[in-house]
Amino acid sequence: MTIVAIWCRHTGDNVIGIGQNIPWHISSDFKRFRRITEGGIVLAGERTYESFPNKTLPNRKIYVLTFNPAYEVSDKENHFVITDADALKNESKTIYLSGGASVYKLFMTGAVEFMPDVVVDCVYQGDLNADLKGQKVDITPCVDVLKEKYEQISKDYMEDNITTRVLVKKGDFVDQSVIKHILSAIENKGENK
Ligand SMILES: NC(=O)c1ccc[n+]([C@@H]2O[C@H](COP(=O)([O-])OP(=O)(O)OC[C@H]3O[C@@H](n4cnc5c(N)ncnc54)[C@H](OP(=O)(O)O)[C@@H]3O)[C@@H](O)[C@H]2O)c1
Repeated sequence: MTIVAIWCRHTGDNVIGIGQNIPWHISSDFKRFRRITEGGIVLAGERTYESFPNKTLPNRKIYVLTFNPAYEVSDKENHFVITDADALKNESKTIYLSGGASVYKLFMTGAVEFMPDVVVDCVYQGDLNADLKGQKVDITPCVDVLKEKYEQISKDYMEDNITTRVLVKKGDFVDQSVIKHILSAIENKGENK
């Protein structure tokens, strides 16, 4: 199993959301996320899952993390409720951690038994959407761990005010086919553009 965390954070303050929303709208960012995760398994916290259009992401399986075992998913064939993140250690496939903050913190700050092997760190340099109401959600503790325990293995990719880089956990063996897939998807060389 390979665990890949993928996020887009605001430069400086590491904000990833305001209330339920991502406070910028950059279509190339959504497309990059789709190219990387399409055909795979996405793990999302219940609040992030609720924020997906129609509570779904086409062509992906979704694991919804919730404390509520009776939580109703929108697509029973492809979406699954997970109440214990540690149970994922028996999973053989790649899992893309797709937020929100509580999920990134759970895995990055050590509450579960295993940390992400790979982080796709997208950093947005523009302004936050000032019209959004609600609390700012940031992932600063995850970025602190990223700086200490991970090393960058890609160049910096710049597109639409977002810098994307790929990091791996220092000292870990990482399946190179996963890295190859991620780099190829970032470079837009995948089949699904
Ligand atoms: N910029 C980005 O890359 C990005 C990506 C994704 C999301 N976001 C943003 O992040 C924000 C949402 O983050 P969030 O932290 O508030 O919510 P979240 O992580 O999406 O979901 C929180 C929910 O996950 C469940 N959960 C959390 N820890 C759990 C555990 N250990 N075991 C079982 N269930 C657990 C709980 O669900 P129950 O209450 O149902 O038990 C909890 O209420 C939004 O603003 C969203 O737009 C940004």
